[in-house]
Amino acid sequence: MDEGDIEGEITEVLFTEEQIHARLAEMAARIEADYEGRDLLIVGILRGAVMVMADLARSFTRHVEMDWMAVSSYGSGTKSSGVVRILKDLDTDISGRHVMIVDEIIDTGLTLSWLTSNLASRNPASVEICTLLRKPEAQQMPVEVKYVGWDIPNEFVVGYGLDYRERYRNLRCVGTLAPHVYS
Ligand code: IMP
Ligand code: MG
Repeated sequence: MDEGDIEGEITEVLFTEEQIHARLAEMAARIEADYEGRDLLIVGILRGAVMVMADLARSFTRHVEMDWMAVSSYGSGTKSSGVVRILKDLDTDISGRHVMIVDEIIDTGLTLSWLTSNLASRNPASVEICTLLRKPEAQQMPVEVKYVGWDIPNEFVVGYGLDYRERYRNLRCVGTLAPHVYS
């Protein structure tokens, strides 16, 4: 599977590029209304949230600041443990700021639960979460998410920033991988 057509390795397309853009535009409109008259800093979680950040931010008709964090969850293989390490911190001082964390998917919720309390301890005016996808059945930690694109079943998905072994992030859609890719 080293060379060739990425889309041929996708068994099922869950969300097309058009569906994703339309949903993000709806979410952006809601966010704009909710944050009217207030400064907003959106924080993308590297690397998966790059596509969501790019399209969400461009759906805004208002000003928005963007910053980035990179974190790593320690755990066995694909399971996160809840022990999180900051690989790249914010460049922005968020005290007194309205902050919205932008992620592409919430699985167990361990990463975002940790991250939310970490950011909350820096005295921001508010911290909310926006995610394109959420797997409610996988959730282990309660995380209050204000903006969700879609809830999806507990299965592994790739594309639109989501990777399997660092591949498939550049796929335009979100889909499930063909079984032969795993084996
Ligand atoms: P958790 O919510 O702490 O379990 O971890 C969420 C992170 O795990 C996400 O930001 C993704 O990087 C990764 N992840 C969870 N589910 C998937 C998936 O279905 N495909 C690709 N990455 C995933
Ligand atoms: Mg992520």
